[in-house]
Amino acid sequence: MPEHDWAGRWREGKIGFHEGKPNPFLERHVGVLGSKRRVLVPLCGKAEDLAFLAAQGHRVVGVEYVEQAAIAFFEEHGVKPSRAAGARFPTYSAGDVTIVVGDFYAVTRADVGEVDAFYDRAALIAVEPESRDRYVAAVRALVPPGSPGLLVTFDYPPGVEGPPHSVPQPEVRRLYGKDTLEVLSEAPGFNPRVAAAVGGGTDRAYRIVLKAST
Ligand SMILES: C[S@@+](CC[C@H](N)C(=O)[O-])C[C@H]1O[C@@H](n2cnc3c(N)ncnc32)[C@H](O)[C@@H]1O
Repeated sequence: MPEHDWAGRWREGKIGFHEGKPNPFLERHVGVLGSKRRVLVPLCGKAEDLAFLAAQGHRVVGVEYVEQAAIAFFEEHGVKPSRAAGARFPTYSAGDVTIVVGDFYAVTRADVGEVDAFYDRAALIAVEPESRDRYVAAVRALVPPGSPGLLVTFDYPPGVEGPPHSVPQPEVRRLYGKDTLEVLSEAPGFNPRVAAAVGGGTDRAYRIVLKAST
């Protein structure tokens, strides 16, 4: 179960995290994911990034706890998704985008299928700080070693309650330091509402290549 009342936020339309267009760092760095991959998007919401990744030739599988968000994604793209019969979690697909509606910590490879890349924007930063190791372990359980990832985080001065939570560089290095990890870009926070709330902040994009855990 997510620690935060995400269903309530979706119900009440408090989704200031939703960008409504592809993330600028994704547009700039999508190449690090390679070509024609099957990309896992944890905590995907109804992000436009799902459609952008599919338009680049990838197949995409998002995992989202709130069914309303998954349904909204397809509705807003004017498509009627099919619903997988016999799946353990409601699983909606249209074109190259699938969304599994379930708790990210509960889904398995059997639920999401084989993936060979991952994209995280506003997923790690949405996780409670004490759950970050668990979150990264869940990513590793679904994404095989050798797979590329693109991680977009947000880092801001202390003293503000999240989510989003500030995820400074040393914390990303602690979580993914044994993997190949490279900062690709950084820029002042893209989301003006969030940036105003936390008094600035830095968006940062990282390339990751997962190594086998030892
Ligand atoms: C900050 S939003 C980011 C959504 C999306 N990545 C984006 O860029 O717009 C975090 C999303 O994760 C979902 N979520 C939170 N905890 C989850 C969990 N344990 N499993 C699956 N989804 C979760 C929430 O419902 C919410 O839609």
